[in-house]
Amino acid sequence: MMDWEELRETCLSCQKCPLWETRTNVVFGEGPKDAEVMLIGEGPGEQEDLSGRPFVGRGGKFLDEMLAMIDLDRSKLFIGNMVKCRPPENRDPLKAEQEACIGYLRNQVALLRPKIIVCLGRIAAMKLIKEDFKITREHGLWFEKAGVQMTAMFHPAALLRDPRRRPETYADLKGLQAKIQELCTHTY
Ligand code: URA
Repeated sequence: MMDWEELRETCLSCQKCPLWETRTNVVFGEGPKDAEVMLIGEGPGEQEDLSGRPFVGRGGKFLDEMLAMIDLDRSKLFIGNMVKCRPPENRDPLKAEQEACIGYLRNQVALLRPKIIVCLGRIAAMKLIKEDFKITREHGLWFEKAGVQMTAMFHPAALLRDPRRRPETYADLKGLQAKIQELCTHTY
């Protein structure tokens, strides 16, 4: 296992999958090194690739609004992605790209030891919770894995495309808020 510094340097120079050839920046993820809650998206989009920061585009603005509904702000959370480099045209990351990258995320989880992991969208849920995860049926449910409470919500970009899913997501956010109150010790 690498420490934060070594891990960041390794990620920033990573060439383990072909996405390195088209990236502008590696999006390592960001947040307090003792965050109790981790949010995991799919992969960087254009704005993230340009800035090197997760969820800063339109989806990211919407994510901030979602968090604000339960009085959360991103500064308290660690926000990362399944893959750290942008897939061209924002396509879903390939299995091989996810495989190449997942060790870095696992290392981040091992360093942080979060109490709660929230998967944003089906790609993260299928990789982190279970392979056959069905986001439409299983969003908002809680799963325990290695002592970590895990759940998934619709991806903010999906909610921008399909506002009909927003009420369900509000309920999921309230569930997250309750879980934070139950398990977390920091002030939010
Ligand atoms: N979508 C994601 O899944 N992750 C980001 O960082 C930005 C958009």
